[in-house]
Amino acid sequence: MDIVVSGIRSTGNLHLGNYFGALRNFTRMQHENKCYFFIADYHSLTTHPIPADLHGNVRHVLAEYLACGIDPEAATIYLQSDVPEVTELYLLLNMISYTGELERTTTFKDKVRNQPDNVNAGLLTYPVLMAADIIIHKATKVPVGKDQQPHLEVTRKLARRFNNMYGSECFPEPEAYNFGEKLVKIPGLDGSGKMGKSEGNAVYLSDDEKTVRKKVMRAVTDAGPSEPGQRIAGPVKNLFTIMNFVSDTSTVKHFKDQYHDCTIRYGDLKKQLAEDLIGFMKPLKERIDETLANERYLGRVAREGAEKARESASKTIREVRELIGFRPF
Ligand code: TRP
Repeated sequence: MDIVVSGIRSTGNLHLGNYFGALRNFTRMQHENKCYFFIADYHSLTTHPIPADLHGNVRHVLAEYLACGIDPEAATIYLQSDVPEVTELYLLLNMISYTGELERTTTFKDKVRNQPDNVNAGLLTYPVLMAADIIIHKATKVPVGKDQQPHLEVTRKLARRFNNMYGSECFPEPEAYNFGEKLVKIPGLDGSGKMGKSEGNAVYLSDDEKTVRKKVMRAVTDAGPSEPGQRIAGPVKNLFTIMNFVSDTSTVKHFKDQYHDCTIRYGDLKKQLAEDLIGFMKPLKERIDETLANERYLGRVAREGAEKARESASKTIREVRELIGFRPF
């Protein structure tokens, strides 16, 4: 059994890419491993959100994860800012992180490019905080996408360095979680690659029906097949891929056949896809709304999650303090 830690961005809503790519795996994983899922609200401060937004986003993300199947009885779900042990470990890890290596991290360089007017020190030490998140529970596995790989490398390096420095085996070197099957990648509606928030090509679980229809009708396609039997390729392939996840197999076959004999009308394909997306998301949306309205439940989940997380975190911190030489009189 692995100890798994995953941080959830507290900005923005879940889109279908997150749902199929990560969440559905989390709901399986949580029964096979010891999982810690937390909302990375400290990390979100690197972009200075206004306080009301911060709280609203955290609430929303928590409700979405619970509604989509994260089970607080099986996994530990908590807010990063509810576990002060994480910030203590972050401080301690900062002392063994070198500014040069942090400056060289590719994600840092990207952020400097993206927000040149706000290159705060939190941005530089973002991977150190992430390392603290992970090793505070002595995690062995971290389910991260490619974009987070550099941060996992920093985490492994810091765990190793700490162990060497203090002659201990306190921290395992965490590895990327392998889902054991081909990673599901939901494409975006703009004909490009992956669905993503920053790409502006996503369908969000919180989108209302009108928005879903509008987005799908505007999705990028192409001029259509020019000869019978042509392989489905180009931007319209994305729509077929999404359809595979949300439509009946007979529906998918219907449009594939039409594509292959050149009778397809993309307008019809899109209308069908929009309705199937709406139908797929409806029960999820209802559960999200119910969960959001249940303030007491959200409060209880957050409190109990924090308690469980702190139990594990304080054990690690006690050990770390002892190793470093902070000893009680
Ligand atoms: N940086 C991650 C992201 O942007 C979120 C995150 C913070 C995280 N701490 C983590 C992910 C620890 C995994 C483990 O998606």
